[in-house]
Amino acid sequence: MADYKIAPSILSANFARLGEEVDAVLAAGADWVHFDVMDNHYVPNLTIGPMVCKALRNHGVTAPIDVHLMVEPVDDMIRMFADAGATYITFHPEASRHIDRSLQLIESLGCKAGLVLNPATGLDSVKYVLDRLDMILLMSVNPGFGGQSFIPATLDKLREARALIDASGRDIRLEIDGGVSAKNIREIAQAGADAFVAGSAIFNADDYTAVIAEMRKELAA
Ligand code: DX5
Ligand code: ZN
Repeated sequence: MADYKIAPSILSANFARLGEEVDAVLAAGADWVHFDVMDNHYVPNLTIGPMVCKALRNHGVTAPIDVHLMVEPVDDMIRMFADAGATYITFHPEASRHIDRSLQLIESLGCKAGLVLNPATGLDSVKYVLDRLDMILLMSVNPGFGGQSFIPATLDKLREARALIDASGRDIRLEIDGGVSAKNIREIAQAGADAFVAGSAIFNADDYTAVIAEMRKELAA
């Protein structure tokens, strides 16, 4: 079976008890912590910044932190999140004037780099920077909010992205973000994803262990 990663999005966690929530999903079997950064500029919502990432590291979180930047511009936040202990740093190509340079910046700071594509954005912007990418993240909802429905056209895009990655022969994660649950995770994996962000499906459940186990069962089927 592929090496699938489950990355709960803390956007749907209880922010008043964030450290405990992160501990709980990791103890429940999650692989990564998906960390959504919104600036009320690139997206119409505002969340958390590098200080909170650092606080999670100081709290003792050693799991990979998958920082999804929905901010514009990106370079200052890349520097600050690298310093705050991010593992992956991904950004939206529209939010950087110089995509290749921002990707190089992430690499130079010792983090893994990725680009995030909105539902209507084609794969063109990743094509010429594949050698700089550790991850392609496809949005299956419009960024800004948790709890939205998966946009089905993303399945075709996943297949295209998977073909592109496989043809490149490079080790690039294909992550999906938005509207993922145990109900659709198998279909999404079959379309080529190997990392799965899930916010509301996990944090709105009473039993994190049960919902993550259910997702893994679907992935193994
Ligand atoms: C949306 C965020 C997502 C969000 C996913 O802009 O990037 O990570 O938390 O939430 P769900 O899984 O509820 O769609
Ligand atoms: Zn996200």
